[in-house]
Amino acid sequence: MRRATITGWGKCTPPAVLTNEDLEAVMDTNDEWITTRTGIKERRITHTETSDMATVAGRHAIATAGLEPEDIDLLILATCTPDRIIPSAASLVQAKLGVTNAACLDVNAACSGFVYGLSLANGMIATGAARRVLLIGAEKLSTLLDIEDRSTAVLFGDGAGAVVLEPAGDGDGVLALNLGTDGGLAGILTVTGFGTEEIGNVAEQFSLYMDGQEVFRNAVTQMGEAATRAVAEAGLSLEDVDILIPHQANTRIIDATARRMKLPPEKVFVNITGYGNTSAASIPIALTEALESELIRPGAVIVFVAFGGGLTWGAACLRFGDRVTPLGTSDARLPATSFTGLDLLLQRQDERRRRRGLA
Ligand code: UT7
Repeated sequence: MRRATITGWGKCTPPAVLTNEDLEAVMDTNDEWITTRTGIKERRITHTETSDMATVAGRHAIATAGLEPEDIDLLILATCTPDRIIPSAASLVQAKLGVTNAACLDVNAACSGFVYGLSLANGMIATGAARRVLLIGAEKLSTLLDIEDRSTAVLFGDGAGAVVLEPAGDGDGVLALNLGTDGGLAGILTVTGFGTEEIGNVAEQFSLYMDGQEVFRNAVTQMGEAATRAVAEAGLSLEDVDILIPHQANTRIIDATARRMKLPPEKVFVNITGYGNTSAASIPIALTEALESELIRPGAVIVFVAFGGGLTWGAACLRFGDRVTPLGTSDARLPATSFTGLDLLLQRQDERRRRRGLA
């Protein structure tokens, strides 16, 4: 059975920026609290839909792999903020991107979605059911932000990241995966008002509830354990890990995970400062930026680890191939906007109030 290896990578970070200072102006929060509790300084807010960001990231990943859209035979889109319920956001991306020969599906494992998608892609390539997979993580979490809830509104941002996976060479590729879910804890991180149990309940549309401390406690335990298990199942020791690319939810969670794995800070990639928590998009955006910053050497041992609503968690240990530079480039980007991040956030808040009949 052939393992899957990453041959292409790309990202889409929307142009409109929302800073901590912007948030200070509209809610009872401050830069000092957000920075020290989370590590976040700013985040991007999109003026487009999830599938538009996914399309741009996907285009870059395909170009980097030296492929054409028609070469892709499977498109997996990890998201918990799809444009619509039906069709999948992956179907919308297929049409926008011209990935005409691909079967398309969405995966929802919240912030762990990229690692879950990687597991599916690896399995499909291992069995020969797919040869060239485009795996995208894309989220428009600004849809869920409510400036009346400061405990969650400061945490999230929008964006997309993508990889292309192909059959691996001899030593590289996905070496081990470790996934888990605890549905008994579903209630500590949940979005209500968008599903069969909520039909007609317009007032509750997109209500995000999170018990931050419980999520934090579980994240630290599960991320450390899943990552350590994946490295062991790969037949490696923790000293063999060259770089940890964790889901970017909170620098304190990342630091605690790294401590559990006894990894020094220089082996841990962190970019939450500029993007906040972008859920399923955070790992592929971080991987792309690590490659662009030349932090990944040929043959590097990489660990991805994520945690999110479900509760879900997952880790992957892989050896990167010999090529760490792009085979091609794309000039794809989102259309320009004159709106600021704060404009977009306030527009969404007005829409939320209007739907609730409060405006
Ligand atoms: O992607 C996976 C999903 N999410 C996560 O991984 C998030 C996991 N949880 C966390 O990252 C942290 O729990 C948070 C960043 C959400 C919160 O940090 P915390 O250290 O657990 O703070 P807390 O909830 O215990 O709140 C401490 C204080 C409270 O005030 P009092 O009761 O002590 O007076 C809050 O009301 O901070 C207050 N607070 C804020 N203050 C200013 C909560 N949110 C804010 C805010 N600005 N935005």
